[in-house]
Amino acid sequence: MQRKALIIGACGQIGIELTLALRQKLGSSSVIASDVKEIVPDLIADGPYEHLSVLDLDRLRQVIVSHQITEVYNMAALLSATSEMNPAFAWELNMNGLLHTLNLAKEGLFQRLFWPSSIAVFGPSTPRIHTPQDTIMDPNSVYGISKLAGERWCEYYAQKHQVDVRSIRYPGLIGYRSAPGGGTTDYAVDIFYKAIESAKYACFLGPQTMLPMMMMEDAIRATIDITEAPSEKIKIRSSYNLAGCSFTPEELAIEIRKHIPNFEITYAPDFRQSLADSWPDSIDDSRARSDWGWAHQYDTRLLVEKMIEEVRKNLSATAI
Ligand code: SER
Repeated sequence: MQRKALIIGACGQIGIELTLALRQKLGSSSVIASDVKEIVPDLIADGPYEHLSVLDLDRLRQVIVSHQITEVYNMAALLSATSEMNPAFAWELNMNGLLHTLNLAKEGLFQRLFWPSSIAVFGPSTPRIHTPQDTIMDPNSVYGISKLAGERWCEYYAQKHQVDVRSIRYPGLIGYRSAPGGGTTDYAVDIFYKAIESAKYACFLGPQTMLPMMMMEDAIRATIDITEAPSEKIKIRSSYNLAGCSFTPEELAIEIRKHIPNFEITYAPDFRQSLADSWPDSIDDSRARSDWGWAHQYDTRLLVEKMIEEVRKNLSATAI
């Protein structure tokens, strides 16, 4: 069967990059981007686009049927900081959005579903260092609660209805092609823009806040690899732990100073600090490595090198 992908939330931080990568792989016409945004970002304007809310079940069904979609990537969500501002909508979008795609997969309208989970499924009682795949999960954020419930739904639909759903617990994602929005880990993207523009950054997390992070390229490769893997290799149907590198704001600043020696960072922790404090320092992703061959490429040094190089290009392009 010819592969035809639908990306829901294609204008978001991950959605844009996933659309670009899948279009390169499958061809532009085989990857339908969709989002609630009216205006399509230039980066993904070269291929098919549907104006679509994942909460509109009838329209979602119609888009899937009319394009003969075989795989769906459901990337529409409110992230951790934004979810705290609007818990009711976060629950509606993160939960009903997922259930809509699970139900249409159950009806047999398409064959594979990718849905992202997050390190936010863990909580204050979870072991923080090399957090195991199976462990205490007591999320205390609206976002984390929605992702943990989502993981349980994924496993339920896989077991009870044979839905072929695949999922990854993304760490904080660091990329340069698209702007992040509403996450607690987003400081680690913004810092590069501020470092290059003004050599100064005021961080909304404290200096010692260690969090698991990952270069966007690695995350996109993981997303495509897990979705392409033969079904029998996907032994976990809730969501897989996934690790790249871990660092604190202070460590990131030290690494940035190797490229921008006069870079200065100050700290003014806000409500996002308590979210970050409830999440792991580092992740044990041995199951992803052994089950479907995951291997990360970017450590902190490489990630910083790449971000400095690419953000410099972005900023000089916008200055012209
Ligand atoms: N990066 C996300 C956030 O900060 C966590 O998955 O909200």
